[in-house]
Amino acid sequence: MIRSRLIAAAFLLGVVTAGPVVAQDVATGEAEAPPAPPPSVEEGLAGWQLFYEVASHPRCANCHTGADNWPMWSGPSYGKPQRHGMNINAGDSRVGAEALVCSTCHVTLSAADGGPDPLPHAAPRAATPWMLAPVETEWFGKSSAEICAQVKDPARNGERTIEEVIAHVEEGAFQTWAWNPGGGREPAPHSKQEAIDALSTWAAAGTPCPEE
Ligand code: HEC
Ligand code: HEC
Repeated sequence: MIRSRLIAAAFLLGVVTAGPVVAQDVATGEAEAPPAPPPSVEEGLAGWQLFYEVASHPRCANCHTGADNWPMWSGPSYGKPQRHGMNINAGDSRVGAEALVCSTCHVTLSAADGGPDPLPHAAPRAATPWMLAPVETEWFGKSSAEICAQVKDPARNGERTIEEVIAHVEEGAFQTWAWNPGGGREPAPHSKQEAIDALSTWAAAGTPCPEE
């Protein structure tokens, strides 16, 4: 009787300890599955090209301007590219603090305000105070190679890893505006998700840059 209980207990113990062993085998089996091969340099360059089409589009580039601190008005709804009307200059502050601060006209949206202003020629509004991007992120009129080198350079991209650049494109209020600008403006090309996927492919391929 005692002996048969012992056997039963040993049997049960065996079942219990077998659990983790099986789980471990499964885990090891998964780890041994061959990883997906990284994208090729060509695939990485194609990913970059898609993002370049976004970055160089007026909905993004009009704010990513250089050391003269001029915001730009360009794209189909503006005719030929020109400096922001009303002699608006962002100054070294990039937010217009030296003269007229951008948010005087470009309202900062709260959740209750809903989306972008639907009226043509109204000052675009976003969920963060309107301002130019930092001088070192100049994209307006720059080549694909130049923008590519800047985006992956921590000294010029706000000390971001590529993953953090991708997260910024995903979460930034200005990006959300650029793909849904309102007022009849042409949105940035592709979609935010396509831009994120393209940047991820570019990153996984080792961030290759085109020659020009
Ligand atoms: C006096 C009001 C006013 C101020 C101040 C102002 N803006 Fe504007 N801004 C406008 C208006 C109005 C438009 C839209 C014009 C149109 O669509 O015809 C505009 C459009 C823009 C655009 C074009 C967006 C696009 O469609 O691509 C940019 C970029 C911009 N402003 C940047 C700035 C920056 C940066 C500042 C601060 C340095 C600033 N603005 C200050 C009124 C203003
Ligand atoms: C209203 C002006 C404005 C518009 C429009 C805008 N940006 Fe920016 N952008 C900024 C500012 C300001 C920063 C700096 C924010 C920071 O570093 O936190 C920035 C920083 C960035 C950065 C990180 C720095 C870098 O160059 O790697 C990326 C990436 C970026 N923007 C992408 C975009 C893309 C893509 C679009 C269009 C879909 C866009 N931005 C449209 C103002 C703008």
